[in-house]
Amino acid sequence: MHPPPSLLSLLLLLLSLYPSACWSSRIIIVPPIMFESHLYIFKTLATELHLQGHDTSLLVSEGRQVPPSPHYTLQRYPGIFNSSTADSFLQSKVSNIFSGRLTALELFDILDHYARNCDAVVGNTDVMTQLKDANFDLLLVDPNEMCGFVIAHILGVPYAVFSTGLWYPAEVGAPAPLSYVPEFNSLLTDQMSLVQRITNTAVYLVSRFGVQYLVLPKYERHHEEARRGAAGGHAGPGPGEQAVDVVYRSSLRVP
Ligand SMILES: *[C@@H]1O[C@H](CO)[C@@H](O)[C@H](O)[C@H]1NC(C)=O
Repeated sequence: MHPPPSLLSLLLLLLSLYPSACWSSRIIIVPPIMFESHLYIFKTLATELHLQGHDTSLLVSEGRQVPPSPHYTLQRYPGIFNSSTADSFLQSKVSNIFSGRLTALELFDILDHYARNCDAVVGNTDVMTQLKDANFDLLLVDPNEMCGFVIAHILGVPYAVFSTGLWYPAEVGAPAPLSYVPEFNSLLTDQMSLVQRITNTAVYLVSRFGVQYLVLPKYERHHEEARRGAAGGHAGPGPGEQAVDVVYRSSLRVP
């Protein structure tokens, strides 16, 4: 799927709001550590931004195969996966789901790996220093993986959400009336009977509970670290601020 042109113009509007970005801005994209389809959308976006005169970098792990392009640069870091290990990890998740294991359990295992990889990025002083020195004007986060929020916060860079899927729709602020928008993993469509709408509401509530109590706490530790980093001159989260506040504070959401 190519991002519709209207999304791109929205993003360009946002860029023009930052004074330093009037001519050419430096943008870092933090794609999820797996799911090549998301990376594909971001490569398309980076190419479009390049054509508008902006410099875009993709933050990807060492060993992740991304074709070189004149349209974007790659910022590498030693992550927990390379292309082949990420593929076999995802394959194993998918085959577990098809053999009847609870989808939610497999998703939480994926989220657990996201959090471990986030440790690897944020804990790598060399990588974080390189990112800091690059003086990015904007960071684009895929809400599929929340590490982008953490990195933006540590670097003190404005960030925008560019959603390539339907994870955390409520948390990123996408309007999702429950009668018309099926919740992720509800197996429903946008044509729902009354009973299905009630089911959708139940799935919605369980998802919000899971995100609030199981997913976001995994990132609280990073926020703790970012807060400590803030004492050392970084722009970290404010006192009492939680992971979800950082999600809510995004400059722009492009669902
Ligand atoms: C990916 O990582 C695995 C395990 O660390 C290694 O055996 C494999 O050679 C790596 N593959 C590539 C393409 O780098």
